[in-house]
Amino acid sequence: MKTHTLGLALSLGAVLWTVTGVAQAQAPTTQQMLYVKSLAATCANCHGTDGKAVEGSQVVSLAGLDKNYLVTQMKAFKAGTRPATVMHQISKGYSDSQIDTVATYFAAQKK
Ligand code: HEC
Repeated sequence: MKTHTLGLALSLGAVLWTVTGVAQAQAPTTQQMLYVKSLAATCANCHGTDGKAVEGSQVVSLAGLDKNYLVTQMKAFKAGTRPATVMHQISKGYSDSQIDTVATYFAAQKK
């Protein structure tokens, strides 16, 4: 339990380090952690909690995918260059910086 919490705090720390672009690693504030978690939660209905899709799901897991891959796909959906049934609409609701934040978060999750 303790280890799990620490692992989560560390991965969130890595995410926020990138987001805020601070020169030195700092412990993320509770508010920053909530922001990243709530952003990732907007994908959970379809892609599963923390990007881990439920077994038998038609929708792919995002956990542990390459960050650049995630960002590229989101931008392709947004630009309409990658055809989709729903993601072309969903992706339009996120700024580039929000896309970067969720992509960093999902890339840091275990598959
Ligand atoms: C309403 C359900 C739904 C939600 C919410 C949703 N997705 Fe998706 N996602 C899909 C579906 C369905 C696909 C397959 C492409 C399509 O048909 O739109 C997909 C595909 C993707 C892919 C491509 C995966 C691959 O293997 O190439 C990425 C990346 C992705 N979603 C990211 C996200 C992120 C990030 C969020 C939250 C910001 C999100 N999705 C929210 C349903 C959803």
